Amino acid sequence: MKLADLARGAGAVLEGDGEVEVTGIAYDSRHVVSGDLFVAVQGIHIDGHVYVADAVAGGAVAVAIERYVKVPAGTPVIHLPSTRTGLAELSAEFYGRPSRHLKLAGVTGTDGKTTVTHMAEHVLQASGIVAGAMSTVAFKVSGREVDNVSGQTTTEAPEVQAWLARMVEAGAACAVIETTSHALVQERVHACDFDVAAFTNVGHDHLDYHATWEDYIEAKARLIDLTSRSADKGVEKTAVLNRDDPSYERLARRPISRRWTYGLTTASDLHPLDLAITGSGSRFRMRTPMGDTEVTLNVPARFNIYNALCASGVCLALGVPAEDIGRGLAGFEGVRGRLEPVDLGQDFRVYIDFAHAAGSLASALAELRPFTQGRLIAVFGSTARSDHDRPGMGRAAAEFSDFFIITTDDPLSEDPSEIARDVQAGAEGKAPGRDFEVVIDRRTAIRRAIEIARPGDTVLLAGKGHERSMRTARGSEPWDERAEAEEAIKERL
Ligand SMILES: Nc1ncnc2c1ncn2[C@@H]1O[C@H](COP(=O)(O)OP(=O)(O)OP(=O)(O)O)[C@@H](O)[C@H]1O
Ligand SMILES: [Mg+2]
Repeated sequence: MKLADLARGAGAVLEGDGEVEVTGIAYDSRHVVSGDLFVAVQGIHIDGHVYVADAVAGGAVAVAIERYVKVPAGTPVIHLPSTRTGLAELSAEFYGRPSRHLKLAGVTGTDGKTTVTHMAEHVLQASGIVAGAMSTVAFKVSGREVDNVSGQTTTEAPEVQAWLARMVEAGAACAVIETTSHALVQERVHACDFDVAAFTNVGHDHLDYHATWEDYIEAKARLIDLTSRSADKGVEKTAVLNRDDPSYERLARRPISRRWTYGLTTASDLHPLDLAITGSGSRFRMRTPMGDTEVTLNVPARFNIYNALCASGVCLALGVPAEDIGRGLAGFEGVRGRLEPVDLGQDFRVYIDFAHAAGSLASALAELRPFTQGRLIAVFGSTARSDHDRPGMGRAAAEFSDFFIITTDDPLSEDPSEIARDVQAGAEGKAPGRDFEVVIDRRTAIRRAIEIARPGDTVLLAGKGHERSMRTARGSEPWDERAEAEEAIKERL
């Protein structure tokens, strides 16, 4: 693409030769290849402006900057008020504004984003609409799946736009993208023309810090603002909001053309009637603003009823008839690593789950309780991430399980034993040996849990989910939670 066209499309000021052909967009000078436009972005730790000369030496044919910096002579420069929003605009322009060629939904919230994203994508596909999805777990285009190994739920703007373009190319009419608050703050989805903004819940983990929680809601609420001001594609701009969540009052104040609420009471636009919990999930009649439909969910846990209502709101807003939604949901078999059963015919249940914060660990355990005749055994650890409440995880396990094993989960450079001690500090009144054990090696911890499980017990392996690596002081090592669980069960059988 010609640099002058790219700059014009992104509404940017160009200085220098506009005839230059741009063949890619880069924001990391180490990954620049010949023909790229290098966009200097100010990150938390690194300022791209420092690497402008390196990028040009590496083959960049032009640079985009937001503050004065010395640029090698002869290199054309794009001046932007913000290179963050600029990166998004330039990427969207480079890939032909793909989100204007399909109907787009964004899903945000604290828990359930990935599940809602894949549920909605599944329902769309099942109703005959070619759809795409991007999530923590995978990128999907027209039913074909690629693992998301980026380590990011919502990738940077150029990747987001490239995937949307791939979807358009594959003939997708709709796409659903999981959108973290990080991504919203960093403007990674800034140039996405959303039609639907869907919300799960907003962070009970953050309720201790009121100001933080307010900021957190504000960040997520930007998805509504992005949606209400994006290009019109003939879909009424819709916010799908959780009526039962404390975030509702604040989110409902954001202006948008249409607001649909969901919840378990009749005060919501989408809600279940005659709800029955079954062995493998639930059954209910769903009331929606577009009529009723029978729903059978084959995924356990009460929160999945919320996720299903949210995904239904998304699909309804994107134009799927109500009765197709009921049919589509019945075929949804869950997301990899989210309460994923590991069943080799053993007489106790084993689930793998990605829950790695106090709140989600508590809710995963609470959800498995009604399905458990015997003891509920949890295996989990806390990560090195500073926003994870370690004692909170210990408290959650102490309160909601019958026995737990504290182990390792992405300690990075920290000492896993120290992390385990922090977790253990939350398990007040619980005695080591009687109520819990600390087994630092995760492989051994999983084997231990499976070794002590009795008929009717449930073992929850929490934290790793779909992830394929364990990040320690030695670097990133391959990890496969399912393979470990299966190996341990086979040994025992
Ligand atoms: N609606 C919900 N409310 C509360 N907890 C949920 C909900 N949906 C899922 N969970 C729990 O959170 C875990 C993660 O679910 P999911 O991956 O769908 O969420 P996410 O928002 O994408 O998470 P992440 O921020 O880690 O990407 C689930 O395995 C389950 O334990
Ligand atoms: Mg996710």
